[in-house]
Amino acid sequence: MEERVPDRFTALTADLGLCYGGDYNPEQWDTVRRADFPDLGAADGPDTGRGSATVWKEDAFLMREAGVNLVTVGVFSWARYEPSPGIRDFDWLEEVLDLLHEHGVAVDLATPTASPPAWLGREFPETLPVDADGVRLVAGSRNHFSPASQVYRDHALDITRDLVERFGEHPAVRMWHVGNEFGQVCHGEESAERFRGWLRARYGSIGALNDAWGTAVWSQHYDDFAEIVPPRRMPYHVNPAQHLDWRRYGSDLLRDLYREQLAVIREYDDARPVTTNFMGFFPLVDAWSWAADLDVVADDTYPDPADPHAPADTALVRDLMRSLRGGEPWFLMESATSAVSWRPHNLPKSPERSRLESLQAVARGADGVCFFQWRASRAGAERFHSAMLPHAGPETMVHQGVRRLGADLARLRPVAGGRVPARVAMLWDWPSWWAATEPALPTGRLDPLDQLRRWYRVLWRDGVAVDLVRPGTWLDGYDVVLVPNLFLMEPTTADRLRDVVARGGSLVVGPFTGVVDGDAQVRTGRFPALLSGVLGVSGEEWAPLPDDGVRLSGGHRAEILGERLRADDADVLVSFAEGHLAGSPAVTRRVVDAAGAAPAPGNGRTPGGGTASYLGCVPDDALLATVLRDAVGRAGVGGVVPELRELNATRRTGTEVEAVQRGDALFLLNHSGADGAPGEPAHVVVPGSWTDLLTGESVTGEVTVAPGGAVVLVEKGR
Ligand code: GAL
Repeated sequence: MEERVPDRFTALTADLGLCYGGDYNPEQWDTVRRADFPDLGAADGPDTGRGSATVWKEDAFLMREAGVNLVTVGVFSWARYEPSPGIRDFDWLEEVLDLLHEHGVAVDLATPTASPPAWLGREFPETLPVDADGVRLVAGSRNHFSPASQVYRDHALDITRDLVERFGEHPAVRMWHVGNEFGQVCHGEESAERFRGWLRARYGSIGALNDAWGTAVWSQHYDDFAEIVPPRRMPYHVNPAQHLDWRRYGSDLLRDLYREQLAVIREYDDARPVTTNFMGFFPLVDAWSWAADLDVVADDTYPDPADPHAPADTALVRDLMRSLRGGEPWFLMESATSAVSWRPHNLPKSPERSRLESLQAVARGADGVCFFQWRASRAGAERFHSAMLPHAGPETMVHQGVRRLGADLARLRPVAGGRVPARVAMLWDWPSWWAATEPALPTGRLDPLDQLRRWYRVLWRDGVAVDLVRPGTWLDGYDVVLVPNLFLMEPTTADRLRDVVARGGSLVVGPFTGVVDGDAQVRTGRFPALLSGVLGVSGEEWAPLPDDGVRLSGGHRAEILGERLRADDADVLVSFAEGHLAGSPAVTRRVVDAAGAAPAPGNGRTPGGGTASYLGCVPDDALLATVLRDAVGRAGVGGVVPELRELNATRRTGTEVEAVQRGDALFLLNHSGADGAPGEPAHVVVPGSWTDLLTGESVTGEVTVAPGGAVVLVEKGR
């Protein structure tokens, strides 16, 4: 891992302010004829007759008009740079970079390695990926490379080196973007060989691997690493430990690709930030283990306009991105101005919705907001994907929205670098997610991500800030720690959780947590083995529930999974009222004696003792909210705005008011009515005197946020 220079990205935003722009694919216009564009004319230059020059000029001109200050160039340009083996054609890029620079638009220059030229696969078929069925995939789409292929990697490094050598000093280039959305898998022989190497390094001996994988089951014993193959198509379930290691290996392999391109960039440029774009809770990359190698975390998120949970679920992704590097500013690298083209049915988005989503990213720590892509493609698989500049040109609703957002982001310059303070932590872990989504579990319906989202939505509606935390990390500074589902748990994680309660904080643990160890082997004894002491409860049976759930005491319901529990040293708050688990505790709480408890981690007050709550079921929304609010309240944590909970209690899902404090700025986003539907204004109590950064208007005591609107308040005199 390279040594981190902390200010590479800060230096960029100190100069540009919040970054604003999108992917720019100028090569798509390289061969156009001028005559194809009768409407071009906004460009401030003579008509050269060459279509590309005119289009590029218009692009640069319109970018400047829209407040765009940074675009990502060259993500898919490899075949254009290297049309045949060894040839280099970079001159056109120089023309583009010069033009952008003249117009004050900085460039995030990509290594073009996500999509190799067709000749590479033709000449070296081993560079093409093989799927789990043994089918070798072909060129004609994108991402047609095997991350394990040495030939691919050598070619990728060659083109990267030549690109960086040629443009490393170009004044337009201010940031580097390695590849695109790493997430490729290959089950072929070269990948198998690398997997074996990875396993050798992890286990040292084949005996240790046999123990870890539990190969005594089903006669899976290995005598030699050479016998091990990737989890290709098999007659029945794959060994869960083998699959877990395959996932770990896959993420590490992709990170190696990232790292080796990063190293080439660093040979020529040690000053500018380097990143790559994550995809939120994407299953193939353990982003915790990558984040230290990025100067700034970047993310691509495409909220579905048809999903009423999108505002909350997208906020969760934003918080993950902020948390990956301990709260540092991050970068929204891609989203859509309106419709995408890859869902079966692609609803458009209003400019208000797009603006709200962008401001939400900034509220939650982003110092860059970019879209895919600047100019809508007229050819290829994404010709119906929205863009900043639609096919119909600048006099369009979408483009006017883009201009407005550019102006908004310029006004929000003062928030750059600001931190989002959070006293609540939620644990999230990729290996646990992987292990929990294997087949052959008690239920295939308990998805850790679904549960994380459900828990998060309660806090989001109340305006309570949350950080995501990698299990095992120190939890000092958090008063409340939530573990919706952590199927795989290491002892260090349990130690950290016990500390929280010992210090007077609140811990809430969800069902089917701490079930297996790092090798996906069940921790025997009453469960959750590592936590039953601190929770004061222990269990003996996992019992998936009937499709329509079961009744609990107090009029509540549970679904998906219940557990047969015994309250050893905890109060039973809710029990199962019917079915297989009738009479068994469903929700418990252990309040630790205040005597001897240390002050709570973040708030410094003398605690009344920590609390440890356990959910032995998947509770209905109301019960979940009660349990979480109890934990948050007992720890003395509140939302950033008084009465937000009451306000949101009257609003439908997807139309809530979102409140986030970032640095000195209080963001209030009214999600109702952002799509043309009749919306509700929100009257929000904000004690004190404020200025709205977006309008310059003064606010005292209460502010009205228009439907689909936003205010960003800073206190007067600060
Ligand atoms: C992303 C990708 C972009 C574009 C976009 C469309 O996954 O990085 O290149 O394809 O999706 O939504």
